Amino acid sequence: MASVTPYNNSDSKKNQVAQMFDNIAFRYDFLNSLLSLGIHKGWRKKCIKLIAKKNPQYILDVATGTADFAIEALKLKPIKIVGVDISEGMMKFGRVKIEKLKAQSKITLHYGDAETCDLADNSIDAITVGFGVRNFENLEKGLINMNRILKPGGQICILEFSTPRKFPFKQFYKFYFKFVTPTLGKIFSKDARAYTYLPESIKVFPDNEHFVSILKNCGYVNANFESLNFGLAAIYLAEKK
Ligand SMILES: C[S@@+](CC[C@H](N)C(=O)[O-])C[C@H]1O[C@@H](n2cnc3c(N)ncnc32)[C@H](O)[C@@H]1O
Repeated sequence: MASVTPYNNSDSKKNQVAQMFDNIAFRYDFLNSLLSLGIHKGWRKKCIKLIAKKNPQYILDVATGTADFAIEALKLKPIKIVGVDISEGMMKFGRVKIEKLKAQSKITLHYGDAETCDLADNSIDAITVGFGVRNFENLEKGLINMNRILKPGGQICILEFSTPRKFPFKQFYKFYFKFVTPTLGKIFSKDARAYTYLPESIKVFPDNEHFVSILKNCGYVNANFESLNFGLAAIYLAEKK
């Protein structure tokens, strides 16, 4: 995977990504809803329905950000949901939302890097990752570490943007990400680069079948994907053997 970094400076991708999300955290939820016209919410709901079938009791939300996925997972009535992220700025807003819901006993957020976080082997029933894997510095390292943490038979559900391939969605998508996203991002988030990094990082991300084969190479079985909204995003579901 070609490496695209937020600020093209000499710092590691991880530090640049954490910095970028710290910068845009105060506007992240608002811009997410504005730029996707709210459809991202339905995508997370769909993921949670998919993992509901196995009735997971211990859930890990990797790259939890402002905790939308972790909060959606409350519907499964699990014993515990843990969210981890490398951006304290994003989690600060997530914790406020969790407190408003009085869900602090169910959901806790901690600093944690997908690639190195040391949760115990075979300890988690289901892992969710929303729009996170594209930002990992080392994708395979993150996927292998998450596999280690999952219990055998446990599921990982990854939601990520993809690139529409068909007319006219491909053309609309190009226009939208070239003109609309950077303009709105610049106005509202005060970090113009964050919203040009977004389409650049989607462009180099190995989506669909390619990502499924990476999941398999990283030790997952029963790996599949489902395209959403004409290829705008995809859900990847896989299991630990
Ligand atoms: C686009 S946000 C997604 C937030 C949330 N999951 C959602 O669905 O809205 C991506 C998040 O991934 C986090 N992230 C990027 N690389 C990470 C890593 N290696 N480990 C943990 N979190 C990471 C970023 O800090 C950021 O909060």
